[in-house]
Amino acid sequence: MDVNLSKKPLKWAELGFQYIKTDFRYSAVFQDGDWLPGSLISEENMLIHEGAPSLHYAQQCFEGMKAQTTQDGRVVLFRPALNSERMNRTASRLLMPEVPQALFIAAVEEAVRANYGWIPPYGSGAALYIRPMLIGVGENLGLKPAQSFEFRVFVSPVGPYYKSAGLAAISLAVSDFDRAAPQGTGSYKAGANYAGGLLATLKAQELGASEALYLDSASHRFIDEAGSANIVIALTSGELVTPSSQAILPSITRRSVMEIASQQFEMPTQERAIDLRAEFDSFAEMSACGTAAVLSPVGRVYFDSKWHIVNGDGYTVGPVMQKLYDSLVQLQRGEVEDRFGWLHEVEM
Ligand SMILES: Cc1ncc(COP(=O)(O)O)c(C=O)c1O
Repeated sequence: MDVNLSKKPLKWAELGFQYIKTDFRYSAVFQDGDWLPGSLISEENMLIHEGAPSLHYAQQCFEGMKAQTTQDGRVVLFRPALNSERMNRTASRLLMPEVPQALFIAAVEEAVRANYGWIPPYGSGAALYIRPMLIGVGENLGLKPAQSFEFRVFVSPVGPYYKSAGLAAISLAVSDFDRAAPQGTGSYKAGANYAGGLLATLKAQELGASEALYLDSASHRFIDEAGSANIVIALTSGELVTPSSQAILPSITRRSVMEIASQQFEMPTQERAIDLRAEFDSFAEMSACGTAAVLSPVGRVYFDSKWHIVNGDGYTVGPVMQKLYDSLVQLQRGEVEDRFGWLHEVEM
């Protein structure tokens, strides 16, 4: 396909995190034990059987990634092989076929390339969000895996996930609901984990928070993660810590931030259980991190019926999160050398 190199007339800097219909999406079907050749299509609606296991039993999973335009005009993905591995880990857990990595990467590249006009330009603060998804389709009634599956990749230009644009502090409210059981599906990117979180998010927002924060469901002491992001904490000791938990999604952003902290800034880092109440006074700075959230400093946390300020006036962005954020986004935008080899260029 010839790529149309003109950009759409969008107000890139004003974009929020909403679906915008783009021109093409990629679709491939798994049938009779094999993947059929996939292709780009323009129809955004899916026609699936009313008995499809994805609709009734949530036999579906997804991923979230971004394509960005670099300073020198390249279009890059960030560590896409890790998204492919994570999708396959989830697929296996839900008895769905793995999407071969070559198919996953080719589908993402094709969807990005075909929608070139929708990729936000360098410096706009926006990015092209990429949503790969795998769903169980076909006729079914009883609780059993689907016979057929559709792998689809659609894209949408997006701005910041949280309403405050740029690097501004957000707030989290500890949820009374559990997100995931210790041996449940919390560490998989299964849609089923998110439906139960909708009410938790609503309740957190009613308290004025940006999002819900979950504690571990066994003891309700240790930090698990936020509704759509992992947590990293800079301690007053100078260490950067992040929760170790079997119930959280292994975030690619978190892994990258921890690597930047230890390798670039030589900070001591540790993944360990973090007791919210017992350790809160040793928190110097806290952030939510994820593809959509990037690295969003957390200024205030609501628990035990009141707001607790992490640092400054509760709206301040601290120096540790500022430098980690700067390093991450400079790397993703190609403003500094890709010293870790994390960028994957999409040839146009
Ligand atoms: C529950 C949850 N945790 C963490 C993350 C962050 O993961 P990643 O950095 O791979 O986007 C996400 C998705 O963005 C998520 O949905």
